[in-house]
Amino acid sequence: MGFERVSVAKMEEVPPGSSRLVTVDGREVALFNVGGRFYAIGNRCPHRSGPLVRGQIEKVSEGEEGSTTLAVRCPIHGWLFELATGRGLTRDGASTPFYPVTCEGGEICLGAAQGESVGPSKPVSIEPGGMTG
Ligand code: FES
Repeated sequence: MGFERVSVAKMEEVPPGSSRLVTVDGREVALFNVGGRFYAIGNRCPHRSGPLVRGQIEKVSEGEEGSTTLAVRCPIHGWLFELATGRGLTRDGASTPFYPVTCEGGEICLGAAQGESVGPSKPVSIEPGGMTG
């Protein structure tokens, strides 16, 4: 896309446990601070464009080894997306772009989007919210 790295916010503007919507290259990006580590993924859920910036952060277990990954749950119908990669964890093929994050001089900088928003590869049923906590 049209940039290699762009500053989107000051670190103190996004304290641990918070999120912020920023616009990069004309696209909405959801920026999260989870325990002092920053993550940035496309804000619009590939299902029905729910705002992932308002989603709940969860630790999700994957595979038989029980490895865990951090994910955001879409506030509309509850699909899950891995924060580090934008990979959809709820439906095969449904993912959102992610943006590599670096911090320099107190600024949060994003690299160009990796991957594209990909919708579900097969018809899906819509589930009610299921939000917890
Ligand atoms: S809009 Fe995100 S799961 Fe439906």
